[in-house]
Amino acid sequence: MRWSTFLTYGLAFVASASELAPPDKIVRRELDTRSLASTIWNDIENAATCDACEAVLLLLKGVAELGDSSFVSVLTEICDLSGAEDSDVCSGAIALEGPIIAHDLRSFSIGSHTSKLFCVTFMGLCAYPDVTPYTVSFPSAKPSTSRPSPSGQTPIQIVQYSDVHVDPFYVTGSNTNCSKPICCRDYSTADSPGNNNYPAGAYGDHNCDTPTSLEESMYAAIASIAPNAKFALFTGDIVDHAVWNTTQAQNTIDINAAYGHMSGLPIVYGTVGNHEANPTNAFQPTAVGTNSQWVYNLLSSIWTKWIGVTAATAEESFGAYSVKYGSSNLRIISINTNMYYIQNYWLYESDMETDPSGQLAWLVTELQAAETAGERVYIIGHTPMGSSDAFHDASNYFDQIVNRYSNTIAAMFFGHTHDDEFEISYSDYSNRAFNTASAISYIMPSLTPTSGHPTFRVYTVDPVSFAVLDSVTYFADMTNPAYQTTGPVWTKYYSAKETYGALLSPAVSADDNTVELSPAFWHNVTTVFESSASAFAGYISRKSRGWNVASCTGSCQTEEICKVRAGRAEDNCVTPSFGVSFKKRWEANAVATGHRDECGISVSREVLAKMVTRRDMLETLARRMDEEVEVRKRTASERV
Ligand SMILES: *[C@@H]1O[C@H](CO)[C@@H](O)[C@H](O)[C@H]1NC(C)=O
Ligand SMILES: *[C@@H]1O[C@H](CO)[C@@H](O)[C@H](O)[C@H]1NC(C)=O
Ligand SMILES: *[C@@H]1O[C@H](CO)[C@@H](O)[C@H](O)[C@H]1NC(C)=O
Repeated sequence: MRWSTFLTYGLAFVASASELAPPDKIVRRELDTRSLASTIWNDIENAATCDACEAVLLLLKGVAELGDSSFVSVLTEICDLSGAEDSDVCSGAIALEGPIIAHDLRSFSIGSHTSKLFCVTFMGLCAYPDVTPYTVSFPSAKPSTSRPSPSGQTPIQIVQYSDVHVDPFYVTGSNTNCSKPICCRDYSTADSPGNNNYPAGAYGDHNCDTPTSLEESMYAAIASIAPNAKFALFTGDIVDHAVWNTTQAQNTIDINAAYGHMSGLPIVYGTVGNHEANPTNAFQPTAVGTNSQWVYNLLSSIWTKWIGVTAATAEESFGAYSVKYGSSNLRIISINTNMYYIQNYWLYESDMETDPSGQLAWLVTELQAAETAGERVYIIGHTPMGSSDAFHDASNYFDQIVNRYSNTIAAMFFGHTHDDEFEISYSDYSNRAFNTASAISYIMPSLTPTSGHPTFRVYTVDPVSFAVLDSVTYFADMTNPAYQTTGPVWTKYYSAKETYGALLSPAVSADDNTVELSPAFWHNVTTVFESSASAFAGYISRKSRGWNVASCTGSCQTEEICKVRAGRAEDNCVTPSFGVSFKKRWEANAVATGHRDECGISVSREVLAKMVTRRDMLETLARRMDEEVEVRKRTASERV
């Protein structure tokens, strides 16, 4: 069958499913769902294409048109069939995420920009659509100034930590080898302390989120290692990964508790992570609704003591704020990156907004005022804006802003990936070189041990230009025999300036306080990654702090360096891959050997990605859609 004919049939089919009364319309369905599933399957087998994804969308849209409860029950059944997760995880997660996805499917049309993005995110079956061109407007042209040089005055220290993911239900002695996305909970009798062969230690495990003991240990280590740190940047994600069972009440308890544990720090500049929401990742932009207002209000009330009433009140608009650090020349701008996050399913509207919640326009206003006042700026956020977790469109628009104000932005700080990484922005992505490198994003590895050993970081910073002079990462090596007995031993893992400065030519001396880790410095580091296999292997190892290091050579190396050289997501070389959306080979391999996908666990996404690799799941989708239509038909005719 030609696809155009098929789509015509399919659309007639969806239309008939959605117009349930009068019931005779349903009878006019011209294609039976089973053959539809077979046709899709054959197409996927021959060539996994965007057409096939759009045909799957027809079925999904058909179910969504029947209502949220039909959609949730059908997707839950398919999740169970997939064996991807335990049944309570399937039902819990899909009950939370399903209605938002059903809303998306009802609102966008198949073949649109949004539907292609949906296919990329959920199934990896379409190529990433081109960015919709949009030129951000600026109040003034970029002045011909350049980055100020460091003053050379005695540096100050600041701290960053991220992705704490504290699990209040962590139970020492419970099973670390459980069947759920995270372990170390008393899920069942078999998982209980004393009844399992893999008892959790008192201070955490790579299959589990952070126990309170580990969280407290990190703040104690920060206090002893960096007692004079002026402030801390906390780049978000507090709530654990039990995403199938989140509630606003429990998230509120977790958020209050986590910030309570930070109270020994002089100032904490926080930002809103994707796990702070309920359901996880689900932040409505202001044009859609107010379901995240409670998060913004809660954070505002907690942050007031650090950022003051004015900034905290402004934060309540959409989760972002801008504030001066004390009487210094530094401004901290905290943005809500959930407005650009591909797993925030509220963003898949029929016409996607160019500037959700107006945050980009607000950012321009703040940066313009900072530039005019001669201030230095740190931008902090949760999800790095060049990563494959950021929409290409939003990332492009954000990158225009970064490049316009690159001489005012001293550095940017993110988290989310759980890995130790960095991203370079360029004024010209077709010529990524040291002299076009325009901004640097530090991506902070996590406290939660799911992707490596627990970490925090201390930056040495110029007190006038606020340039980052060094970035020193501390970790608690979980293989240390003392770790689970007397507790985590926090030691220096590496200094970026020592480790990378020595590799450059001319070499950058670790104790030269007149040299910053500039965007050009970091670009030159990536040049060394290209020419030195051992320097690059060192970077790969540091990503997970030496834990479960996968080999990355050849095209993996090329792609990884490309990813580092991309403050703009469209340039990060990450291509959607069929069935394993967004995982590169070595990452997919890492998943096979036990690595969990970084920050985002969306069960629905996992299920849909699996569905396009399994004929039985597709057929079940088709059959269940039929059954749901039949139920509706019967109900409708009973009503007549
Ligand atoms: C974890 O448990 C499963 C079955 O429950 C078993 O097949 C697997 O080998 C265990 N993992 C390890 C690392 O022993
Ligand atoms: C869900 O979480 C609550 C705490 O918020 C807990 O009491 C309950 O047992 C959990 N339910 C499941 C099915 O995990
Ligand atoms: C980067 O490398 C170039 C040579 O390729 C050199 O001219 C420049 O000084 C280096 N910049 C830094 C900050 O290391």
